[in-house]
Order: sequence, then C-alpha cells, then structure tokens
Amino acid sequence: MMCIPLFAVLVVLLLIYRWHRQNQILPNLSDKYVLITGCDSGFGNLLARQLDRRGMRVLSACLTEKGADNLKKETSSRLQTVILDVTNSQSVSSAAIWVAQVVGDKGLWGVVNNAGISIPTAPNEWLTKEDFYKVLNVNLLGVVDVTLQMLPLIRKARGRVVNVASVAGRLTICGGGYCMSKYGVESFSDSLRREMNPFGVKVCIVEPGFFQTLVTDTNIQKDFCRKAWTRLPEETRRSYGQQYYDTYCSTLEKTLGRSNSNLSLVTNCMEHALTAQHPWTRYSAGLDAKIIYLPFTYFPTAITDFLIGFMTPKPSTTT
Ligand SMILES: *[C@@H]1O[C@H](CO)[C@@H](O)[C@H](O)[C@H]1NC(C)=O
Ligand SMILES: *[C@@H]1O[C@H](CO)[C@@H](O)[C@H](O)[C@H]1NC(C)=O
Repeated sequence: MMCIPLFAVLVVLLLIYRWHRQNQILPNLSDKYVLITGCDSGFGNLLARQLDRRGMRVLSACLTEKGADNLKKETSSRLQTVILDVTNSQSVSSAAIWVAQVVGDKGLWGVVNNAGISIPTAPNEWLTKEDFYKVLNVNLLGVVDVTLQMLPLIRKARGRVVNVASVAGRLTICGGGYCMSKYGVESFSDSLRREMNPFGVKVCIVEPGFFQTLVTDTNIQKDFCRKAWTRLPEETRRSYGQQYYDTYCSTLEKTLGRSNSNLSLVTNCMEHALTAQHPWTRYSAGLDAKIIYLPFTYFPTAITDFLIGFMTPKPSTTT
C-alpha cells in the first residue's frame, strides 16, 4: 500500500517532465526554411499561413497557379511559392533545384509531405489496378520522391522530415489504395527515421483521423462510386446487390460529412514537429483517431474485423 502514493508522485513527475520537454521551442525560427507540399487547400494551406505568421520562411508547393496566387494574397512577402506535381519526377527535381538556390548554405530546415488524395475509394473488387496506382502514385511514391530529392538539403540543416500519414495507416478501414498508401508512408518514415538518426535529422509522422479536407471531394467520390458500380459485370453487381452499393456510398458520404472541421488540430501537430526542440515521433490528431481507431489496432484481428464489420454493408448473396 505504501507504494501507491510513491507511484502517483512518479507519474505526476513524469507528466511534468513530458510537458516541459514538449514546450521547449527552438530559437531563431525566422532563419528556418520549410517546404510544404499540397498548399492549394486543406492542411497544407493552413500550415503555410500558420508558419508564415510565426515568422518562418515558408516555401509553399502548390499544384495549381491559382492555389499559389490565392495563398500569396493572404500571406507575408516572406512566403514563396513553387508549382509542384509530386507525381512528376521532373517537376520534383526542378523544385529541388529552386529550393537549393533559395536556401543556400543554410539548407532546408523542414519538408512537410502533405500532398495527398483519397479518391478513388471503393471495395477492392470494384476497382482496377489503375485506381490503386493513382492513389499510391500521389500519396506514397510522391512522398518518397520529394523526400529523396530534398534529403541532401535537409541533412545540411540537420532538419526535419514531417510525413502526413493517417490513422488509416495504422488500421485498414476500407479497400482501395488509400489505406495502403498510408501504411506505406508509415513504413517509409520508420526506416528513414532510423537511417537519419546519425545525421541529426528527425522524421515525424502525423496521423490525422477523419477531417473535412476530404469533404471537398464528396461529389467526386459519389460520382466515382457510381462509375465503379456501373462498370462492374452484371454478375458482380447482382452478387453485391443494389443495397450494398447504396449503403456503401451513403456511409462513405456520411462519414466524410460528419468529419472534424477543425484543421488546426492537425496543423498544430505539424507546427510542433517543426518548431519543438524535441518533436514526437508520432502525432495523432482528432478524437476519433485517439479514442476509436488507434485502440482498435491493439485488439486481436477477429475483434477488429467484427467491429469494422458493423460499418460495412452485407452483400445480398454470399455464393
Ligand atoms: C540565432 O541567430 C543569431 C543571429 O543571427 C545568432 O547569433 C545565434 O547564434 C543564433 N542562435 C542559434 C541557436 O542558432
Ligand atoms: C480547434 O482546435 C484548436 C487546438 O486544439 C483549439 O484551440 C480551437 O479552439 C479549436 N477551434 C474550434 C472552433 O473548435
């Protein structure tokens, strides 16, 4: 019984230590260059504005001219933009040359691999290899390419790589390339973290739950769902049944519609990863990730399958 108060004191001390460690912020943020991909909208756009306000030197990579122009209107003259398509190696290497010129001897303090897509998503059998490829090409190979090309500049600054994975990189909640790509980002980040440790480069993973950045895509997803369904052979459609299709597509829509709209929960994690003296290896953002999806990953497979089964429609025939 004597041990209990002692244990409580130790826990409190540990929490205070963690809190103190977490709150140590780097000096001279205004000297640091950070490249963020996918700044046209969503997390990337918000993070660019947030870090710009903190006085960092933000290099915003946008897919479109329009996205870049809009961002410039809302930010200081410190912020610079570059057009980048992460699926195009030529585009990535041009951006790397531009970044090298801008940062000079300082090197690049941070790269935030944020650009990503979530569509096409559907049950695996409704998809083609091309559908998988599309998502993997942006979300996984894009992250790998940008990271590899920026790494010499990051090593020079003994900086940070911040990769946006997802809670879907810890728990597979649906078919298609999305979860696969996020598992890939987790794996890439894990090996890179170990390899970069001796160079003083830190690799951080951000794992958001469901956020409304996906919602701008609701209509495209709905259209895709219909397209994937109608192109299926008659026999396949009969096996799944109309009700499966209706439920699957409307559940997806509802999940996206209900998702968290407070994007700063995610961008605050990214900001901590870039500005803290001691960044965490993993950040989970959003209550759904913390209290539902991440705990699911610790259950035995049979239980996880059963619970996820609740969210998945049943086919009309199982022959
Ligand atoms: C911060 O910047 C100042 C002036 O540029 C420099 O003298 C100082 O060494 C820097 N501190 C760190 C920790 O880099
Ligand atoms: C969003 O999250 C941030 C960070 O936790 C919090 O400070 C802010 O109040 C939240 N905003 C809304 C509208 O809930």
